[in-house]
Amino acid sequence: MDSSEFQFQFIHLNSVSSTNIYAFERLRQKSIRGATVITASFQDNGKGQAGKDWESERNKNLNISIIVSPKINVEHQFKLSQLVAISLKKWLDTLAVEGVKIKWPNDILVNGKKVAGVLIENSVLKQQITHSVIGIGVNVNQGVFEKFDRPATSLKLELKRNYDLKKALTEFIKLFQSYYLLFLKGDVNFQQDYLKHLFGYGVPQQFQDAEGKFLGVILGVLPSGKLQVNRNGKLKSYGLKELKFLD
Ligand code: BTN
Repeated sequence: MDSSEFQFQFIHLNSVSSTNIYAFERLRQKSIRGATVITASFQDNGKGQAGKDWESERNKNLNISIIVSPKINVEHQFKLSQLVAISLKKWLDTLAVEGVKIKWPNDILVNGKKVAGVLIENSVLKQQITHSVIGIGVNVNQGVFEKFDRPATSLKLELKRNYDLKKALTEFIKLFQSYYLLFLKGDVNFQQDYLKHLFGYGVPQQFQDAEGKFLGVILGVLPSGKLQVNRNGKLKSYGLKELKFLD
């Protein structure tokens, strides 16, 4: 294992289009390595999942891209998603945030409201992930949110206090790093913990797929990351854009 994977270097930008775009640009120029943590006080073109925008007020929140070189087969990429989701959940536990759930694949909710989102983008060569850019947006000190698909919240709204962004970043990265090292050593399986904290796991709820609306129950997640849902007695597996949560 490359020892540089143990020491994260940090780059902070005042303003950037998107920390993920910046990370890929620097990787293309071969002027950056994994493991690097890039943060920005403001993004004017923040990227969300499924081609959506990610809005975040200047200086209020954490906009992070972590570049790692996990050298794993692309078939195992969902493990990285689980690793990030579990790290965020455990970090929020240390801050005593209650009601934290992971919404498949890796949104983080507090009492049903989104507090953090994750966008992982990989560069792949011969089926191996050479670099993974793990984009994480955490709502920390923002007080007002426009309502998009789902209501949003922040640590400040939940815990009624402001957070030092630098301290929050340091603490989160420390935790992430410890899980990442276990992951590289192959010492950990996140599946059980992931399911334990999965939003809606085992609970009937309204979904919509290509065939229409239905009351279904999440039964599990496949190693590929597909969500397994009981749809009227049939076990179905869904990729990211194939299923909508209606609640
Ligand atoms: C989502 O839930 O839709 C994913 C949001 C990911 C946002 C983060 S903020 C830092 C990084 N840079 C980006 O442009 N996006 C991710």
